[in-house]
Amino acid sequence: MENNRPNWTSRVTFILAAVGSAVGLGNIWRFPYIMGQNGGAIFLLVYLSLILTICFIPLFAELAVGKITKKECIGAYESVNPKFKFLGFLNPFTGVLISSFYFIVGGWILNYIYLSLSNTKIDDFGNYFSLFTQSSIPSCGFTLIFLLICIIFTARGIKKGIEFANNVLMPLFALILAGLIIFSLSLPNAHLGLEYMFKPDFSKVNAHMFLAALGQALFTLSIGMGALLTYGSYIKEDKSITKSTYMIIFSDTLFALMAGIMIFPAIFSFGLEPNSGAGLVFVTLPYIFSNIPHGSIVSAAFFILLLAAAVTSGISIIEVPVASMTERFKISRKKACFILFWIISAIAIPASLSFGVLDNVKIIGKTIFDFLDFATSNVLMPLNALFLCIIAGWFLKIRGEQFISNRFLAKLFDIGLKYIVPLILVSLLYIGLK
Ligand code: PFF
Repeated sequence: MENNRPNWTSRVTFILAAVGSAVGLGNIWRFPYIMGQNGGAIFLLVYLSLILTICFIPLFAELAVGKITKKECIGAYESVNPKFKFLGFLNPFTGVLISSFYFIVGGWILNYIYLSLSNTKIDDFGNYFSLFTQSSIPSCGFTLIFLLICIIFTARGIKKGIEFANNVLMPLFALILAGLIIFSLSLPNAHLGLEYMFKPDFSKVNAHMFLAALGQALFTLSIGMGALLTYGSYIKEDKSITKSTYMIIFSDTLFALMAGIMIFPAIFSFGLEPNSGAGLVFVTLPYIFSNIPHGSIVSAAFFILLLAAAVTSGISIIEVPVASMTERFKISRKKACFILFWIISAIAIPASLSFGVLDNVKIIGKTIFDFLDFATSNVLMPLNALFLCIIAGWFLKIRGEQFISNRFLAKLFDIGLKYIVPLILVSLLYIGLK
């Protein structure tokens, strides 16, 4: 079976797929609003420091475990020690839960593309957004269409589906982003948005900001769900992952910065507040688009950009349970995708309805959607990342000297992987669960 495992066509297609996984709603929807809620430039500074020092380590470790074991998550953990099989299961399980709420936001994007292309006039976007999310058939319908798009690409396999989607969608994404940045920077008072992003106010530093930055960094880099482990397991033996790790971190950070440079100048140009939370992209930006010349074209371009990013990430989330089902349980890829479609729908539909008819159904005091977000971002992803670092550092004995030529930096990597990152992840879990 192992010999029949697919491989990436080349290092470039692997990097494109890994960057496609990392760059998603986390960069364009989540990053700007979390930054807006946490003081702008100072959050960015904390975020960048964490990415460069701490997050590099679990990202590298996840790719390395995949590449060394050449197995999907459950098999990878089991091959280190049969007792770890259960920990491996947590990865595809997390994937199913993440996809259930990630794809709801994907559905919202599809609806906004439809709105822009049909040139629908809306007076109050705040009201529109809450009515749409509360609706049953339209919001569930768009969620299922988005899920179907990702499932179809995944069902076509690594080369014909995943590589193809990334090869087409990632350049399209970069192109639209560049165009929108030029447009946003040409608006009056655009410099106020840049100041907000790049002039830190040190008086705003607080502990919560570190937590928010770390949670965002893990999510945006796709760490802690097995997506990078699974993608890493398709790398050919002779290819190094050190440069790829740098490329993924660099590209993901660059795209998050570019998303900010696209969004904040427009917000400040219209005298709006950057701290409106999750509605920033679905309420504040559409309001701006509706007040500029050719706004529906700009709006359609923006939401198509968001869709491209969300699809390439969505595919990587689905690939984790698909890989486990095909390799572990010997189910064909197409059948695995078919089964997953129903499993994810069965969770995503109630989660979508939790904005409307099911809003009184609560799990530990949270709506279904909020619970899924909480369970994955605050608990399962840090937990998976913790197990992964322990397995990589203590059992597989991955060492910095194997890939870092500077001995001091290599030693720092070892200490980070074995002690510092696990400690930070335990603290993140403790605070997140409080
Ligand atoms: N990194 C993706 C984003 O920023 O939208 C989300 C994600 C993809 C998280 C894949 C986890 C994952 F395994």
